[in-house]
Amino acid sequence: MIEAQTRRRLYTFPLHRRDSIGSAYHVLTFEANEPIAALPGQFAMVRSTTWGDAPLLPRPMSLLTGGTRPSILIKVVGEGTMRMAYASSGEQFELLAPLGRPWSPLPEGHRAVFVAGGVGVAPLVFLAQALGEARAGGEMPLALYGGRTHADLPLDAELAAVTELRVATEDGSRGTHGRVTVLLEKALDELSGRAIKVYTCGPDPMMAAVARICAERHVACEVSLETPMACGYGVCLGCPVPRRPAGYLYACTEGPCIDAALIDWERGHGVSAGQKARGAS
Ligand SMILES: Cc1cc2nc3c(=O)[nH]c(=O)nc-3n(C[C@H](O)[C@H](O)[C@H](O)COP(=O)(O)OP(=O)(O)OC[C@H]3O[C@@H](n4cnc5c(N)ncnc54)[C@H](O)[C@@H]3O)c2cc1C
Ligand code: FES
Repeated sequence: MIEAQTRRRLYTFPLHRRDSIGSAYHVLTFEANEPIAALPGQFAMVRSTTWGDAPLLPRPMSLLTGGTRPSILIKVVGEGTMRMAYASSGEQFELLAPLGRPWSPLPEGHRAVFVAGGVGVAPLVFLAQALGEARAGGEMPLALYGGRTHADLPLDAELAAVTELRVATEDGSRGTHGRVTVLLEKALDELSGRAIKVYTCGPDPMMAAVARICAERHVACEVSLETPMACGYGVCLGCPVPRRPAGYLYACTEGPCIDAALIDWERGHGVSAGQKARGAS
């Protein structure tokens, strides 16, 4: 991780293309004049040079790819992602990257099980592609992918190309009817006795549930935190997450990829944790 963090740089790249997946999800691919040496699970702080003073801060985004065609998957939730969703080819963006702790390697002899929710799929597609390059004929990761409805499964085709994919939707419009944790419990039953490692990224309640299920079954679990961030590299102290058994860790430098057992899911994290740590109401 230290080596990766010392490679951090502020790049300015034009947007190469924007691919929309429905109205809410978009993949932005940048034209890099020099490659970003990112590892799966690392992220970038992203901002368009056209934004002016508002939004002021760059937005943290997992890298879907690094190299000379760095890309991100965005879901429109507010001002920054809305502006990204309307960006045109050629628009200049600043990317501070690569940032954060990447996914840890899959231990020898283990099967990787991914649990993804919504845009949490991006760092897992990056990891699956890297594992595929290293696998040389071995087992594909098993990927479990959940959303509220079929429209909340961006990059399902990309994930299916590099994993054995099972999907679940809460409204039953695709795959198993229910939450992705239903798929996880079934998969852990099937794989009982096998050495496995779970990698998960998605909404906090989903990751908390995945962490609990894995802890109950003594299965290794790593999460990628999507805590709101201001700087992305450890100077603003704005991304505290409750650590077990006490205190806080910083999601941007000690994460985003981190052993799920180190997080105190009962105290919650994200916006509320940041407010609590800073003493706000
Ligand atoms: C390491 C990391 C990787 C991320 N990867 C991705 C990714 O690949 N794709 C993606 O779409 N998003 C990702 N996110 C989340 C993304 O950073 C936020 O959605 C984005 O900053 C929102 O910016 P905005 O200006 O559109 O929304 P804002 O106007 O800032 O906020 C709109 C609403 O969303 C809420 N919100 C903002 N950020 C978050 C957050 N992080 N968690 C929960 N609620 C939030 C706000 O409280 C508000 O209610 C990642 C976050 C982190 C820390
Ligand atoms: S985002 Fe600034 S310290 Fe983590």
